[in-house]
Amino acid sequence: MSGNNANRRLKFEIFRYNPQDPDSTPHMQNFEIDELPYMSLFMALNEIREKHDPSLQFDFACRSAICGSCGMMVNGKPSLGCRTQTSDLPELIRLHPLPVFKLVGDLSVDTGIWFREMAEKSEAWIHAKEAFDPAAQEDRMDDETAQKIYDSDRCIECGCCVASCGVANVSGEFAGPAGLNRMARFSMDPRDTRDDADWFELISNEHGVFGCIGMMACHDICPKELPLLEVYAYLRRKALTTALK
Ligand code: SF4
Ligand code: FES
Repeated sequence: MSGNNANRRLKFEIFRYNPQDPDSTPHMQNFEIDELPYMSLFMALNEIREKHDPSLQFDFACRSAICGSCGMMVNGKPSLGCRTQTSDLPELIRLHPLPVFKLVGDLSVDTGIWFREMAEKSEAWIHAKEAFDPAAQEDRMDDETAQKIYDSDRCIECGCCVASCGVANVSGEFAGPAGLNRMARFSMDPRDTRDDADWFELISNEHGVFGCIGMMACHDICPKELPLLEVYAYLRRKALTTALK
């Protein structure tokens, strides 16, 4: 549980840049506000926008770590603004937008473009042989498989793992932690008819699981605590088993 630091004056250094404005240049802007009890970064940024600068851009929707829209670099670490308490941070708080994703302005990025491209490249949907029949009985699935799929499906596509990944930062082709998680999710699904050779082609290359250089920041960063290391182990094992057949 986050503590409550009384009487602190918080100093913010916030990245400012509006790519739509030809006169805008990237720079840091300083703000100061009084810390309030149980203040989240969402509350702090709203206070700055209301009292100091209404043009400050940042994204929030659910305010409860569900929508994935509030990822940002908080003192150099990808974090969800809505679940970061200022009391867990020093008085000086530096905020930057997440790298990798298209900058909308200031702290706001468009993660949707990246996630859509990744989903299209990996065809992240159930490949069924038969057309969907709404009148058919539900497919049954064993509990263990259902639990593994559920674990992967908890991803909120916040992009924090992608921003923390050294490879995703330099290669636009790498599937990234969230992309590999999506591949694992569909390859585990018994309703997906893609075979081992199809998965081998998708995951067994430098853009797939063998592009990961094992820094594992993604695993430490993920705010939903997805078992990303297990995901990579699963994909590597699947690739090697197919190769050795
Ligand atoms: Fe965010 Fe975790 Fe999903 Fe990455 S795997 S996008 S950090 S929820
Ligand atoms: Fe939805 Fe933070 S506002 S995850």
